[in-house]
Amino acid sequence: SRVDVGIVGGGPAGLMTALLLKRRGISAAVVERRSQETIRATQRAGILEAPTVDMLVDAEIGSRVLTEGHEHEGTVLSFDGVQHRIDFQALVGRSVWLYPQNEVFHDLATAWQAEGGEIHWEVDGVAVEGLEGDTPAITFADAAGEPRRIEAELIVGADGSRSMSRKLIPDDVRTDYFTSYPFAWFGILCEAPPTAPELIYANSEVGFALISQRNEDITRMYFQCDPDTDPEDWSDDAIFEHIQQVLGGEDVVALKRGRIIDKTVLPFRSYVCDPLTYGRLVLAGDAGHTVPPTGAKGLNLAFSDVRALVPRIEEFLTGLRSGPARGDGSAGGGPADLTAPLRRYSATALDRVWKAQNFSWWATNLLHRRPGEDAFAHQRRRGEFQAITGSVHGQSYFADSYTGWAEV
Ligand code: DHB
Repeated sequence: SRVDVGIVGGGPAGLMTALLLKRRGISAAVVERRSQETIRATQRAGILEAPTVDMLVDAEIGSRVLTEGHEHEGTVLSFDGVQHRIDFQALVGRSVWLYPQNEVFHDLATAWQAEGGEIHWEVDGVAVEGLEGDTPAITFADAAGEPRRIEAELIVGADGSRSMSRKLIPDDVRTDYFTSYPFAWFGILCEAPPTAPELIYANSEVGFALISQRNEDITRMYFQCDPDTDPEDWSDDAIFEHIQQVLGGEDVVALKRGRIIDKTVLPFRSYVCDPLTYGRLVLAGDAGHTVPPTGAKGLNLAFSDVRALVPRIEEFLTGLRSGPARGDGSAGGGPADLTAPLRRYSATALDRVWKAQNFSWWATNLLHRRPGEDAFAHQRRRGEFQAITGSVHGQSYFADSYTGWAEV
């Protein structure tokens, strides 16, 4: 087939791009390796920034986020069993919404398909060609094994943190910024009601824990663990005892317990690809950058990429259609100039990406214990914690970053 934009990856970044392009009369087709059911069943973070919710609502995809999501006007930070509430509304006038990312995916996939959008699930052997020319294409085998080809003016690589598309940016053009962490998260889902009205991010001498939520009957929690942990080595009782210890005594907050129905270890890393474009390719979401989970920035950052990208794609296509004959490399109208809006997208998006990289890295270091650290490190962190919770300026920094900076 032939469309304006071919999209590799049918997660939230790819689907949101496809839907917003369609709102501007730009056609798109999406290919995805996994099945729709697999993506929907994969547990991801559950906090949406205010600008993310606005995008869902403005694009008329988002009524479920408002009816089934829960607005959180603040969160609790806990250090050695002492709790401080950060009041987002009072500090920055914004809230976040608790609405699981796999539901965001479901809403986007449902909308795209209901609107007749082209999407191929469970494809195999995806390859991209022609990025340096003017007719790039995605080739793949569809779910029935039939070879297929989608020709486009532009390819969006939205294929997640193990992206193949970012590797299409040649090594001498691409800089990979990367850092790793000496810990991971142990995530559980359990059959328990919420422990507290808001999320609790806690640090203690035995490390980090997060009490999140899903609904009245199911709770999501995480605690810091060694990256090599085998989830089966932890009994339900041992997990709850440990999390209760991180939170402090039952007089501080009594953890609600229940049968554990899912246990997974989540890796931690930070990654940025620079630039986010090459020839007729642009990257969006995890394909271009990965953050550690603390603060739940991943999907929100993918949406801010899309917000910056869609108008630049429209500008690129307009330039293409009004420009000189295609393939004419002459000064003033050649391919290098045509892709200028895409390079502007990369620069704009990377500014926000690095802000979020900083916040995710900072919140991670504020809230986790490094293996083998000394007593000084823990007390220093307590000082940092009090610098945040003990002043309106510190609290505002946290609230502004956590709820999603208002500007692009
Ligand atoms: C959740 C995950 C996060 O990483 C976070 O910071 C907050 C909530 C969650 O899964 O609910």
